[in-house]
Amino acid sequence: MNAETWEKVDEYFANALVPTDRDLEAARAANAAAGLPAIDVSPLQGRLLYLLAKLQGARRILEMGTLGGYSTLCLAQAQPADGRIVTLEAEPRHAAVARANFERAGVADRIEVIIGPALESLPRLHAAHAAPFDLVFIDADKPNTADYFTWAVKLGRPGTLIIVDNVVRRGGLADARSEDESVQGMRRFIDRLAHEPAVEATGVQTVGRKGYDGFVLARVR
Ligand code: SAH
Ligand code: DHB
Ligand code: MG
Repeated sequence: MNAETWEKVDEYFANALVPTDRDLEAARAANAAAGLPAIDVSPLQGRLLYLLAKLQGARRILEMGTLGGYSTLCLAQAQPADGRIVTLEAEPRHAAVARANFERAGVADRIEVIIGPALESLPRLHAAHAAPFDLVFIDADKPNTADYFTWAVKLGRPGTLIIVDNVVRRGGLADARSEDESVQGMRRFIDRLAHEPAVEATGVQTVGRKGYDGFVLARVR
């Protein structure tokens, strides 16, 4: 089994199951044209986010790590008309591309992009009593993931779904001696998760066009 096979199956699933969407395709093209790193969720992964948000009936969504807003758009498409998304992005340049994508898709009025390091924005959101979020997607800088998770629990409510991207890192997750800062960040996150009695969780390994990686899914009790 190799990366080429994973990509073929990814494409096969995507062609069969993911409807062509003008707004998502335009966003992907705009992100590439702006020179953003091509690290957004894949179309199939975006479809997973969409389905999870629908299953969750998520009206209020919080995202850490906007990039060009591809994942944000997938989540927005799952929301009811009165849905709201707050998405946190450190890079003003990324946020500007995302905003243009949201405007083109006609969902800019329901999405608030907050520019700045997420660890500065999160306490502000908490102090401002932003109503509890129904779903949180954590996908920003990996070394801070444990702290993002703690904020997600704090900003959630019983039943909130927390999804964390890029946890497995080509299997690096299982290497305690890894010198990769992102791997060590994810190991600290898993340790935090394991000792957090307020949630129940599982890990899902994935392969596909983004290689070998995985998600953590957690639910606040
Ligand atoms: N969720 C996006 C991909 C996000 S990539 C998608 O799937 O479409 C990760 C993003 O996190 C990048 O845009 C990066 O600029 C941003 N980021 C990095 N450090 C951050 C921080 N401290 N606070 C907020 N965002 C950060
Ligand atoms: C990276 C970040 C991501 O969010 C992702 O899905 C893949 C890669 C990265 O920083 O390399
Ligand atoms: Mg990611």
